[in-house]
Amino acid sequence: MRWWDIDQVLELEKELFPEDTWSRGMFWSELAHSRGPNATRRYVVAEEDGRIVGYAGLAATGEQGDIQTIAVARDHWGSGLGSRLLAELLRAATDFECTEVLLECRVDNVRAQKLYERFGFEPIGFRRGYYQPGNVDALVMRLSDPAASVTPVTPVGPVPPATEDDGVEGTETHG
Ligand SMILES: CC(C)(COP(=O)(O)OP(=O)(O)OC[C@H]1O[C@@H](n2cnc3c(N)ncnc32)[C@H](O)[C@@H]1OP(=O)(O)O)[C@@H](O)C(=O)NCCC(=O)NCCS
Repeated sequence: MRWWDIDQVLELEKELFPEDTWSRGMFWSELAHSRGPNATRRYVVAEEDGRIVGYAGLAATGEQGDIQTIAVARDHWGSGLGSRLLAELLRAATDFECTEVLLECRVDNVRAQKLYERFGFEPIGFRRGYYQPGNVDALVMRLSDPAASVTPVTPVGPVPPATEDDGVEGTETHG
């Protein structure tokens, strides 16, 4: 993703995240950290015939990667594009030498959770009232060893129960 993509990205952002839309400034700020030798971000877009139909971003802090956002145009859902974007972020996490990747996801976003589970993410806790307004909880999910999960894996057996975590810190992410 480059700065000239932001207009199209914002259109998708407003439609797909109507309650916690990122501003233009947030995308500018993220992209400012995505270039050069000290880059800590990787943002990608998926384009079809000049139209942006998906985007995703990862932040790396030391050995921890965070999925900042991931989104696919509604008319492309179920085509495997979400999986391709997530795989690209996990490749980036591997390049940043992250040993784990974390994300927050609305507890009611079952579709996204299924996508993450297919790549081996496991629920590790909740952040109460993370998404404002609306006071919606976030499910925190974690993937250890992103290098081993750049292709989806089918989870075997039940995933461990999530635990409580009331601490809300940092930028509100939707990935
Ligand atoms: C979550 C989101 C990114 C998923 O994107 P997607 O492109 O639909 O993801 P995929 O196509 O890879 O996978 C979704 C489904 O398509 C199926 N699928 C994957 N590849 C496929 C293919 N080649 N052909 C047909 N179906 C396929 C998957 O099995 C999956 O089915 P499931 O719902 O039963 O698990 C998308 O729904 C979205 O943008 N949602 C709104 C924003 C959002 O909530 N982002 C996440 C915030 S935490």
